[in-house]
Amino acid sequence: MKKRAVKVLDTTLRDGEQTPGVALAPEQKLEVARALNDLGVDIIEAGAAITSEGERKAIKLISKAGLDAEICSFVRALRSDVDAALACDVDSVHLVVPTSDIHLKHKLKKSRQEIKRISLDAARYALDHGLVVEFSAEDATRTDPTFLREFLSAAVKEGAQRVCACDTVGVLTPEKASELFSELTRIVKVPVAAHCHDDFGMATANTLAAIQAGAQEVHVSVNGLGERGGNAALEEVVLALAHFHGIKTGVKLNKLYDISKLVERLTGLPVSPTKAVVGENAFAHEAGIHTHGVLVYPPTYEPISPEVVGHHRKLVFGKHVGSHAIENELKRMGLKPTKKQVKEIFGQVKQLGDRGKLVTDTELRAIVDAVMGRELEEMVKLEEFTVVSGNRITPTSSVRVKFGEKEVVESGLGVGPVDAAMNAISKVVEGMSNIRLQKYHVDAISGGTDAVVDVVVKLTDGKRIVTARGTSGDIIMASVQAMLNGVNRLLWDRKLGGT
Ligand code: KIV
Ligand code: ZN
Repeated sequence: MKKRAVKVLDTTLRDGEQTPGVALAPEQKLEVARALNDLGVDIIEAGAAITSEGERKAIKLISKAGLDAEICSFVRALRSDVDAALACDVDSVHLVVPTSDIHLKHKLKKSRQEIKRISLDAARYALDHGLVVEFSAEDATRTDPTFLREFLSAAVKEGAQRVCACDTVGVLTPEKASELFSELTRIVKVPVAAHCHDDFGMATANTLAAIQAGAQEVHVSVNGLGERGGNAALEEVVLALAHFHGIKTGVKLNKLYDISKLVERLTGLPVSPTKAVVGENAFAHEAGIHTHGVLVYPPTYEPISPEVVGHHRKLVFGKHVGSHAIENELKRMGLKPTKKQVKEIFGQVKQLGDRGKLVTDTELRAIVDAVMGRELEEMVKLEEFTVVSGNRITPTSSVRVKFGEKEVVESGLGVGPVDAAMNAISKVVEGMSNIRLQKYHVDAISGGTDAVVDVVVKLTDGKRIVTARGTSGDIIMASVQAMLNGVNRLLWDRKLGGT
């Protein structure tokens, strides 16, 4: 296949925002748009201007932000939708028209010729107002191929600068994608885009097949957000294009992990640990054979280096851990245990792992300290702790700790009692030792209202990162315990001068 440029239209802020439960405030949409621009996407589908006042505010903010990317609004084949887009100062419209008989008969109740006439009118209206038009056939992959070709050709004749075939319900396979996009790109003389959904887990493969067949643009979203199973994931498509086909897009691959984290944080939709490219486990290794291989020569179990996508390698300590990983970690900690001590540490990690738990590094270090006779000094001690919550008051927490001879008292408010408690304790640790909470995770170990919960926190002092656990029948106590375990570990390591 000859090398050529492929354009990236990112639809995180439109199709991605249609993910159930996701709604971004205008400032949050702007933050994502800036990040997408820095990432290097060509077109940002910022939303659908007709949707709401807030949406128009967001699209206007993005249009006026001076970004290099083309800013686009989704529109239906209605002059009122185009007017709303024009009022937001966008560069282009993504004009979407259903073309399958299923949609025409059951949704729009219009004939093929009627919809063709209406959509060409809307396209003409947008073009006459100076907008670039990307003309999309919704449900193209269940549309009569003859009508699809006739429809898209007519749009190009009308002046549409790009067209798109949507695999709206994700029913393509790579073979069918290849056939469809070969045919469309042969007939249509403007760039053709592929918009693939992941209902059968094929969106990335189908998008790649479309590109190999001649399509010149991909529609993607960060973390694969989107309706139902989502859209083709930006990170997967651009990486696969580069890695397998040597096709460079404008996207800076080394920013992929960061933008995934940003979108995860703003949308509140957690990325699965096993998500390709950006999941927390994408470059994590636990099994002995794997960690050994990776430590000796990373390509044994990594198809690409984590740095390529701005991610990081992680060796995880659990029941499958190998002695090489333990030895490597001890070396990283600047320790020189005897062979007997390594064996003892290894055995204890396996025992903990056998109880079905991931061993946090605080637990690993506690084992190491015990085996090597380095007893951890509890530098911060909890003296008193209260939380008040109810239906008429803002949840409030106060905490008193002893740090050496000093007594520190702080209070915090929160959206709930746990949040208030974490805010109070975070203030204490930030104030005295510059330690910040990076991640908070809670799991119920048993069922019922008296469930035992397991809280894992990730803390950093800017130089070191630790994960620590707290387990209790009381979620607030488990959270406080996890925080204090992590803080004490960080302070202790700091005192020892280790990592
Ligand atoms: O999947 C789809 O068909 C779409 C269109 C509305 C563009 O998102
Ligand atoms: Zn879609």
